[in-house]
Amino acid sequence: MGAPWWSAGVFYQVYPRSFADSDGDGVGDLDGVTAHLDHLQRLGVDAMWLNPVTVSPMADHGYDVADPRAVDPLFGDLAALDRLVAAAHTRGIRLLMDLVPNHTSVAHPWFVAALAADPGSPERGRYFFRDGRGPDGELPPNNWVSVFGGPAWTRVSDGQWYLHLFAPEQPDLNWDNPDAPADFEKTLRFWLDRGVDGFRLDVSHGMAKPPGLPDMPDTDIALLTHRDDDPRFNRPGVHAIHRAIRAVVDDYPGAVTVGEVWVHDNAQFAQYIRPDELHLAFNFRLLQADFDAVEIRNAIDNSLAAVASVGSTESETHRLSSRKRSSTGTPTWALENHDVTRAVTRYGGGAVGLARARAMTLVLLALPGAVFVYNGQELGLPEAELPDAVLQDPVWERSGHTVRGRDGCRVPLPWSGDAPPFGFSERADTWLPMPPQWASLTVEHQLGDPGSTLSLYRQALEIRRERAGFDGGIEWLLTPGGVLTFQRDGLVCTVNTGAQPVELPAGKLLLASGPINGHQLPPNTAAWLA
Ligand code: GLC
Repeated sequence: MGAPWWSAGVFYQVYPRSFADSDGDGVGDLDGVTAHLDHLQRLGVDAMWLNPVTVSPMADHGYDVADPRAVDPLFGDLAALDRLVAAAHTRGIRLLMDLVPNHTSVAHPWFVAALAADPGSPERGRYFFRDGRGPDGELPPNNWVSVFGGPAWTRVSDGQWYLHLFAPEQPDLNWDNPDAPADFEKTLRFWLDRGVDGFRLDVSHGMAKPPGLPDMPDTDIALLTHRDDDPRFNRPGVHAIHRAIRAVVDDYPGAVTVGEVWVHDNAQFAQYIRPDELHLAFNFRLLQADFDAVEIRNAIDNSLAAVASVGSTESETHRLSSRKRSSTGTPTWALENHDVTRAVTRYGGGAVGLARARAMTLVLLALPGAVFVYNGQELGLPEAELPDAVLQDPVWERSGHTVRGRDGCRVPLPWSGDAPPFGFSERADTWLPMPPQWASLTVEHQLGDPGSTLSLYRQALEIRRERAGFDGGIEWLLTPGGVLTFQRDGLVCTVNTGAQPVELPAGKLLLASGPINGHQLPPNTAAWLA
């Protein structure tokens, strides 16, 4: 059996609100994606991952799901999704939906019923309703904080509290209640039967909650990060949930799951991609690394080590406790997604930030495994600076206006023309305003420029494709401080994170992320050689 399609796949992440607007309401939609599939095909990606398009009041832009088996009218309808799937498949592009098992919306019929029902009722048993602490139950049941800031509990009119690890509009589901897995299976089959090719599973390290909901040791944590001993996440029980999901997905050959797993410890991370759990899990180390040779190398080494330690399925682990198994997982790589600051800005912004982001593109695309590219990354978009008044991320309100949140990486894509809305929409007031300075960053502009970031992505992806099937391992080559060089099946990737130009390694120059002077690799530049 050959390697599955996704094991070296390039996945393009479409944030549907911001990709392309077909109906002139200032918000992107499914027909907008269908109309711009040329862009994905020209890039040469294997698959797209669509952020949630299911029915939602949009308190967290679709991650608060009121009906997991229907399309929100903002994005279109089921027919529009079918059109997109068919059009993508015609072009050889697979499509992953984004599902949210950990929580629902407060508008989900289950939660509406739970609010109407009494404490202790079966309706409340689908969520985490608890009495409060203190003489009148006026204190939350434990000290858990929401990932978006503030307490993870909200009190309802009869005095009970319900748990929400994210916004109050996102109550956590109780996966010990059989309704949660049964309904999730229905959702998986619903989309797989319609022809989608798999799922990104939101908060895949959530779902299982520890018995008794003990206090967390440390409540002072930054957005989307937490310690591995945080009782809110990464509980042992989560693996049984993943095995049940995998059993369903295995009925659909070729389908893939990729989990959002914010777990730092390599051995614990590896458990999520045992052969009977998720196919893939996001490893966020590379996007957390600074533009620094040591940090980048550590991130790569750790990500590779994490998947190398995968080993056996849970049942095999019990049977063969001491025997070492050889199965390894597939590494995944990303520099951006809809939750983090754009790479150009993270690496310092301006011309330097862009040069570094371009250099990291060559590192990213030379690595073995599955690669994720977030829409706009291929254009070198920086984080947009947005005025307070337009911010929409719940993080902004929940943090008492201290954390601006994730809107700056979610601004609509510039397609063409010289002024906002840059062909994204017919309407000037797009859901988030687009910076007028993006005129030189449009797809149209960059297609005509061989030195553009889009051209760099296209060339790099073409070379990656031509070398499809090249062997998994990477070999580090000795380099001066500040420089990182590795080789993979005859391709040498070198990146200079230092302040001085360095001598290029031997070989034929295939591609560089910036201008090369003779045999010198300038700072903030990477090159591929053969
Ligand atoms: C994940 C998503 C993020 C969302 C959160 C709650 O971290 O990537 O965008 O806000 O889950 O569903």
